[in-house]
Amino acid sequence: MLHEIINKLLTKIGEFLSKIKTKVISIITRFYCLFIGVKLGKKTIFYGIIKFKRASNSIINIGDNVRFRSSETSNLIGINHKCIIATHLPKANLKIGNNCGFSGTVIGCFNEITIGNDLKCGANTLITDSDWHLNDARSSPPKPIKIGNNVWIGYGAIIMKGVTIGDNVLIGAGSVVTKDIPANVIAGGNPCKVIKQL
Ligand SMILES: CC(C)(COP(=O)(O)OP(=O)(O)OC[C@H]1O[C@@H](n2cnc3c(N)ncnc32)[C@H](O)[C@@H]1OP(=O)(O)O)[C@@H](O)C(=O)NCCC(=O)NCCS
Repeated sequence: MLHEIINKLLTKIGEFLSKIKTKVISIITRFYCLFIGVKLGKKTIFYGIIKFKRASNSIINIGDNVRFRSSETSNLIGINHKCIIATHLPKANLKIGNNCGFSGTVIGCFNEITIGNDLKCGANTLITDSDWHLNDARSSPPKPIKIGNNVWIGYGAIIMKGVTIGDNVLIGAGSVVTKDIPANVIAGGNPCKVIKQL
């Protein structure tokens, strides 16, 4: 009985401290974003320390009420690394809509990535419009990515360059999306294909 009470008390204290930590990190990160020219909407929350990198003359524009989970246990599905949100070339344009959530997500933007509203982006996901090694003859140039509204990207999925994902799509865990996915479907696999119409 006493054991249970102590356990509950410690949990409450832990939750309280973690709320304060999140508030402090969110305030500091907001100032940092102002300093490096990342545009943040209202009520963005940072659970743990995120990594931002903005190339000169590029745009990072984040909407209202977006949550970035970067600490390992801020999502109990398990986060392997912090969120890394970056533009890598001048004129790169990264836009994230309102009410989106990211857990240990890496977004690497060399050209253009546009994300709509209400994206649920599962733990350890990667969204990149480039092959990264730009001078390697085996790679092809960066191509824009467009993700619609109300999309859910499952754990560990990878969204590759040139892909458009329609509204109300669920991308299954561990998928590698290399081609466009139409609206209102569940899709999965490597390469990612439509599994079900919604
Ligand atoms: C995609 C998903 C929603 C499908 O669930 P479901 O609707 O119950 O579908 P089923 O399990 O009946 O599977 C239907 C078919 O899709 C396949 N499939 C399911 N999930 C898949 C995935 N992630 N990748 C590839 N194929 C998948 C199944 O093997 C099955 O194939 P079959 O018809 O040839 O037998 C689910 O498997 C999934 O990946 N959810 C993501 C959850 C997640 O990542 N949450 C945490 C982070 S937010």
